[in-house]
Amino acid sequence: MGSLIKACSAAEVPAGECRTVEVSGRQLGLFNVDGKIYCLDNTCPHQGGPLGEGSLEGSVVTCPWHGWQFDVTTGVSPVNPAAQAETVACKIEGGSILVEL
Ligand code: FES
Repeated sequence: MGSLIKACSAAEVPAGECRTVEVSGRQLGLFNVDGKIYCLDNTCPHQGGPLGEGSLEGSVVTCPWHGWQFDVTTGVSPVNPAAQAETVACKIEGGSILVEL
């Protein structure tokens, strides 16, 4: 079990949007699906594209580099279950998004 570290304020990731943050030197993608926050390692398993700068539709983010897609709730690609982005535990507390690293 890692430590919970503040990534940013919850207001910085509105519903339906995503962004990249750096926490303790690690690049993470934060995704807001209907008010619930999910976090993935920002590095796309294809060739390292920044997932937090992709486009989010429902719970699926599309990588901005070559269009691979991942369900942010599981990290798994809906089209290729062998492709998986690393999930990071996170939660909202006191108006902040905390990630477990
Ligand atoms: S780096 Fe993400 S699809 Fe290629």
